[in-house]
Order: sequence, then structure tokens, then C-alpha cells
Amino acid sequence: MEIMQKLQFFFFVFTFLALGFEDTLALTTCSGTVPMKYRKETISIEDYGAVGDGRTVNTWSFQKAIYRIKHLRRRGGTLLYVPPGVWLTGSFNLTSHMTLFLAKGATIKAVQDTENWALVDPLPSYGRGRERPGGRYMSFINADRIHDVIITGENGTIDGQGGVWWDLWRNQTLVYNRPNLIELMHSKDIIISNVIFKNSPFWNIHPVYCTNVVIQHVAILAPHDSPNTDGIDPDSSNNICIEDSYISTGDDLVSIKSGWDEYGISYGRPSHDITIRRIKGSTPFAGVSIGSEASGGVHSILMENINIYNSGIGVHIKTEVGRGGYIKNVTISGVNLYDVHHGIKINGGSNDHPDNKYDPNAIPDVRDISIKNVWGVNIERPGSITGIKDRPFTGICLSNVKLWTANGDVIPWKCTDVSGCAIDVRPRPCTELTGSSTVG
Ligand SMILES: *[C@@H]1O[C@H](CO)[C@@H](O)[C@H](O)[C@H]1NC(C)=O
Ligand SMILES: *[C@@H]1O[C@H](CO)[C@@H](O)[C@H](O)[C@H]1NC(C)=O
Ligand SMILES: *[C@@H]1O[C@H](CO)[C@@H](O)[C@H](O)[C@H]1NC(C)=O
Ligand SMILES: *[C@@H]1O[C@H](CO)[C@@H](O)[C@H](O)[C@H]1NC(C)=O
Repeated sequence: MEIMQKLQFFFFVFTFLALGFEDTLALTTCSGTVPMKYRKETISIEDYGAVGDGRTVNTWSFQKAIYRIKHLRRRGGTLLYVPPGVWLTGSFNLTSHMTLFLAKGATIKAVQDTENWALVDPLPSYGRGRERPGGRYMSFINADRIHDVIITGENGTIDGQGGVWWDLWRNQTLVYNRPNLIELMHSKDIIISNVIFKNSPFWNIHPVYCTNVVIQHVAILAPHDSPNTDGIDPDSSNNICIEDSYISTGDDLVSIKSGWDEYGISYGRPSHDITIRRIKGSTPFAGVSIGSEASGGVHSILMENINIYNSGIGVHIKTEVGRGGYIKNVTISGVNLYDVHHGIKINGGSNDHPDNKYDPNAIPDVRDISIKNVWGVNIERPGSITGIKDRPFTGICLSNVKLWTANGDVIPWKCTDVSGCAIDVRPRPCTELTGSSTVG
């Protein structure tokens, strides 16, 4: 007991010193949600013939090393060490009980061989590639039906070299859906921490049909004009925690999804119990979003301490007729916005469908969304809530939401087909939200 108390005391002092006085001492984190395993065995990618010169293609070395981890099955798992250097490789699959460890100065770089890139089936909850019909190019790093996986290190880099893929998209010569940088599918007990993700061809980190995923202390970087480079998209997944990260990309920084129209409805796997906190960054699209693909349902979401600047939208909840499903029990608290075009936007009418087979009677149910403690400066349009006709969004509650334009103009909230409440909101909230106690 005494030792435990001492440890706790040192932990307390360390935390206190590390944070300084301005931060709360009881900083909640998800550390411990998924056990951080210290692997007994370490192998280096160099032992498998890899050369970190930035020119040698090391796909075979990654596959051999991971094959070895999978089949030798060392007790406690194996750590695959990637030393400093630039390790060019094609895409590869991870396996259970492994840690992929990137040393300081290590970069795993994707080859740009778009013509020979492997294909995989579309996701059942999407029915097709998100941007092209048919299959998808396999993600650069894949986890499929595995567990107990850690991707970490000393802030090494995973670089997707997405430029050629962005060009294929721009000049409309893409055949299939572009690869994600990392996709985790049907997997559980995953930690991703202390890694830099750069220039993904498409979405950066895509956990889909997953449980127990912790992503913390990562940086995700892509140019603002790179198409669809979403930061992290938890999709039909639960018990996901994303925290303490910096994300600056060309699309939504974090976006919670659960499948697309009739495919998402029939797959029927919601995203739920997701925490997103202490995220900072900038994008021409949304800082944090839910949807618009939410056909399997999204519930029990907590987003807190979000800092968004130089961006298109601060908080965006989006859906559409034909999506079906629901978005409910969402709490968003502690949002700072600076230089953001549109502060808070909640809308139906995303208007894109996988095909013409979607059900026009599949109307999403959007309710019980609480947005509080929001402070925004240099906001061009504070807020809008556009529900779906005859199926209004209900229980949308704003409290202590202050959004200021650069020049002091008062741009009113715009609302249709919504009910809920507003307390202490500036500028004055729309009359659809009752319980207003402030005049804007
Ligand atoms: C990687 O996993 C995919 C399925 O996710 C499979 O199609 C492919 O054959 C695997 N590749 C290797 C080299 O094991
Ligand atoms: C990695 O980056 C984080 C900040 O995101 C920093 O706190 C940590 O000290 C860095 N670690 C190393 C080994 O450089
Ligand atoms: C489209 O972009 C790719 C990648 O940069 C390039 O190889 C290809 O020639 C371009 N095609 C056209 C039609 O511009
Ligand atoms: C609502 O979501 C919170 C997380 O923000 C969760 O703790 C709570 O259990 C959920 N409530 C219900 C009724 O599902």
C-alpha cells in the first residue's frame, strides 16, 4: 500500500510539473483502456533485409517480418523495430500481438505504384467505394480481424506520399477508391500513439467494425488542398478514444460514421461510446463532425476540449434523407474556434448517395444533442440548424455558446425543422430553440 501511495504521489507531482498551473490536475485520459503491452521479443526490420535508403522497396521485408511474428507466436507478442531511415514499401498487413515501433527519425514511406496497387472488396456497410463504384485500393497499412496491436514509437512518420493519388482524383482518372493510410477492420484492442501520419492518399486512420481503439499523441498532416484526407474516421465502431492530437488536413479532422444508405442500414452496426478530446487543428472542412454516412446509427458520443482555427466549420453534424439510422446522445463541450467560417452547422441534405436504390423513406432520427461552452472569435457565420422536413431534429440544446464575428456584425442563427433549447447563446439563437435567456 505504502509503495502504491508513493507511486501515486510521484505521479501526481510529475503530472503537476508537466502540465503547469493553468491545466486541470485531474486530466482524464484513455490510457489504460487498452493495455499497453511491453513485448518480450524485439526484431528489427533490418534483420529481414530491409534497407532504409529511401529507394529500396522493402515490401517483402515487412511481409516476412510480420509473417514471422504471426507464425512464431512468441509469448507476449513481438515488437517490430523500424530504425531511423526512410523505409520505402508497398502496403502490408499487420498481425495480432505485435507492436510496430518507429524510432525517432524513422519514416515508413508508401511506394507510388498506383497501377499495381492491390485491390480489396468494398466495405459491406458502403456497398461500393466511397468515391468510385466497385472495389477499393487496399490501405497502405492494414489490420483485418486481429487484436492486441500497437503502433507507436518516438514520433516516427508514416508517409502515404498521396500526391499522385490526389492528382488521379483531380484529373478524374481514378479507377477505384483511393487507399486509406491505415485501416483497422474487425479488430480490437488497438493503440496508436506517438506517430506522425503524413500525406495520406485518402482518409488517414479508418477504424471500421472495431472495438477498443485508443489513438493518442499523434500528429496527422496533409495540405489543406489535398482531397478527402480526413484525419480519423471511426466507422461502425465502439469504445474508441481519440485524444491529445494535432490534425491539419484537407478534410474533416475527426468524423464519426456508420455506413452509407441502404448498405449501412442493412449492415446495422452503429458507432457508439466514442470520446474525442483535446484535439487541435485546422482544415477547410470541419473540425469535428458526425456523418454524413451514419446509416448504422451513432450514439453516446463525447467530444470535449476541441480547438479549431483557420477552418471551414467548427462542429458539423450532417445527414440526409435515405441515410436512415440515427444520431443521438451526443455531448460536445468546450470548443474554441478562431478564424472559422461557419461555427456550428447541423443539417440534413448532404445529397450524395451510393446509387439510386436508397430508400427515400429512410429518414434519419437526430436528437438529444447538447453543445455547450463554445467560444469563437472571427466567425463569419455563427450557426445554422437545418432539420429534415416533417422529421425535425429534436432536443438540440445549446448552452453558453458565444460566437463573435470579426467586425462585430450580428449574423443571426438560421434554423428550420428543429426544436430544443438555448441558454446563454450569442448571437441570439433562433426562436425554434426555446428557453433562450440571452438577448444577442
Ligand atoms: C492482406 O489482407 C488482405 C485482406 O484484408 C488480403 O486480401 C491480402 O491477401 C493480405 N496480403 C498479404 C500479403 O497477406
Ligand atoms: C513525441 O511528441 C510528443 C508531442 O506530441 C512529445 O510530448 C514527446 O516527447 C515526443 N517524443 C519523442 C521521443 O520525441
Ligand atoms: C493524372 O494524374 C496522374 C498522376 O499525377 C498522371 O500520371 C496522369 O498522367 C494524369 N492524367 C491526365 C489525363 O491528366
Ligand atoms: C450518453 O452518452 C454518454 C457519453 O457521452 C454515456 O456515458 C451515456 O451512458 C449515454 N447515455 C445513454 C442513455 O446511452
